[in-house]
Amino acid sequence: MSIVLFGPPGAGKGTQSQLLTDRNTIKHLSTGDLFRKAMGEGSPLGLEAKSYVDAGKLVPDTVTIGLVRELLEKNINTDYIFDGFPRTENQAKALEEMISAINAKPISRAIFLEVDEKILVDRLSGRRVCKNCNAVYHIQSKPSKVEGVCDLCGGLVYQRKDDGVDVISTRLKAYEENTKPLKKYYSDVGLFTSINGEGETESIYKNIKKFVQ
Ligand code: AP5
Ligand code: MG
Repeated sequence: MSIVLFGPPGAGKGTQSQLLTDRNTIKHLSTGDLFRKAMGEGSPLGLEAKSYVDAGKLVPDTVTIGLVRELLEKNINTDYIFDGFPRTENQAKALEEMISAINAKPISRAIFLEVDEKILVDRLSGRRVCKNCNAVYHIQSKPSKVEGVCDLCGGLVYQRKDDGVDVISTRLKAYEENTKPLKKYYSDVGLFTSINGEGETESIYKNIKKFVQ
């Protein structure tokens, strides 16, 4: 069974997905990571996504849905943590439709990570990410052992362009307008669970793990 992990930027989706995939037989599908990889490679997808991602705006649904569909079609027997997808009601409906059309693993839970906005800004502005393996760090709460070098793979640890203060506010607005309504969407279909995303990473993990087989 797959799960959807959603919430505002900086809620801890990537951090928790990393723990879940390290310790369970479930795979991580982050549309944000896929876009950043494509941008780094300069592929047609990357060129298309760049102006949206760097500005903190949502990449058009047609592009995003097409990308996920392509991946799912090749991996119908895989249990996924969907991180950052779906992000609009249109995407949520498309995900449901593609899962039933290709007989991929159904969504067993849509878990929302609840975090106060002030904490989000602090987390995002201090975040650093590995360019190679996407490991997530924070300059205060989780620094890499050697500055700029990933503990896990030795890759370059950098600051995402969209973690600048101006872009953070655009991302929070996009979340309020497009993604927050998914709370109601997933409540209406009986899949919604809200989890407190503040506090110790390990205790948040334990609460999410209850929904992962
Ligand atoms: P994406 O990469 O998905 O960004 P996001 O949703 O804004 O979420 P983040 O990755 O910023 O935060 P997170 O929840 O993963 O937090 P993290 O674990 O890193 O998307 C980027 C862009 O791509 C979008 O803006 C859009 O342009 C495009 N895009 C992607 N998907 C799309 C879609 N479906 N449709 C259209 N466009 C799409 O943690 C953050 C920080 O907090 C880290 O430093 C971490 O160390 C720290 N932290 C985490 N947990 C804790 C804790 N418990 N205590 C203390 N610190 C913590
Ligand atoms: Mg993330």
